[in-house]
Amino acid sequence: MKVNQIKKFIPKCLLFSIFLSIILLFLISLKYNFKPETPPQTENKDIRIRPGYPSYDSYIQRQLNKTLNPKLREIWTTRDWDRKIQVFSIFFDNLKRENLLTNSSKALCIGARVGQEVEALKRVGVTDSVGIDLVPYPPLVIEGDFHNQPFHNETFDFEFSNVFDHALYPDKFVAEIERTLKAGGICVLHVAVSRRADKYSANDLYNVRGLKALFLRSDCVHVRKVDGFGLDTEVVFRKRNS
Ligand SMILES: *[C@@H]1O[C@H](CO)[C@@H](O)[C@H](O)[C@H]1NC(C)=O
Ligand SMILES: *[C@@H]1O[C@H](CO)[C@@H](O)[C@H](O)[C@H]1NC(C)=O
Ligand SMILES: *[C@@H]1O[C@H](CO)[C@@H](O)[C@H](O)[C@H]1NC(C)=O
Repeated sequence: MKVNQIKKFIPKCLLFSIFLSIILLFLISLKYNFKPETPPQTENKDIRIRPGYPSYDSYIQRQLNKTLNPKLREIWTTRDWDRKIQVFSIFFDNLKRENLLTNSSKALCIGARVGQEVEALKRVGVTDSVGIDLVPYPPLVIEGDFHNQPFHNETFDFEFSNVFDHALYPDKFVAEIERTLKAGGICVLHVAVSRRADKYSANDLYNVRGLKALFLRSDCVHVRKVDGFGLDTEVVFRKRNS
């Protein structure tokens, strides 16, 4: 190419890459249509939102970075697989004994990654179970953002999650659970209290009081200590009838 041609070529490249970026941004924004206008903040003194997420897209990118990590996915589906299913099965069996979960419950696991908790539910007899995560892992886990659950109101009898600390908008995370639970439905959260979870966490919970305050349409059934993969507290809520 002559110098002249190169001079003409460079702006074309630039234009083309700007064009591609716009298309890409547009596609990403279509996919994640929960678009908060205000930066995350909370009046809640018991929950602190971590800094470092200038936009919802940057938050999603960071979460995807962990979820898509091939090394982690390999570990989750091999070494971790049976061990996690066994521990989850014990948790769910206990909840069944307490009549908080039955074989006929329609159940959702939020932020389930590769879905060991969904498999555990199926194994203890809760056959109508599914998980959501940003990255699907069919058939156990379908694609869905917990800030904007892909389900109609009052769909589930039971919802479980151990990723509360990943929520950038804890109030929205809880509001979506209360929206998609049926009246009388049960929500079980495993959380870490008073200690930092991992570097992908978006919030830190200092007192269970802060979590209870977010549930506007439910009553707390119990709070107890558990040993759940670095999470130390189980908090169970029942959605009220009105
Ligand atoms: C995640 O981020 C690290 C650097 O922070 C980068 O090296 C890695 O390629 C990213 N992985 C994915 C799956 O985006
Ligand atoms: C629930 O399902 C499990 C596993 O299939 C079964 O062993 C159990 O008997 C069932 N419980 C009831 C009450 O039907
Ligand atoms: C679903 O629930 C939300 C909040 O709980 C409410 O604002 C909305 O109107 C409901 N949608 C339908 C279709 O009932």
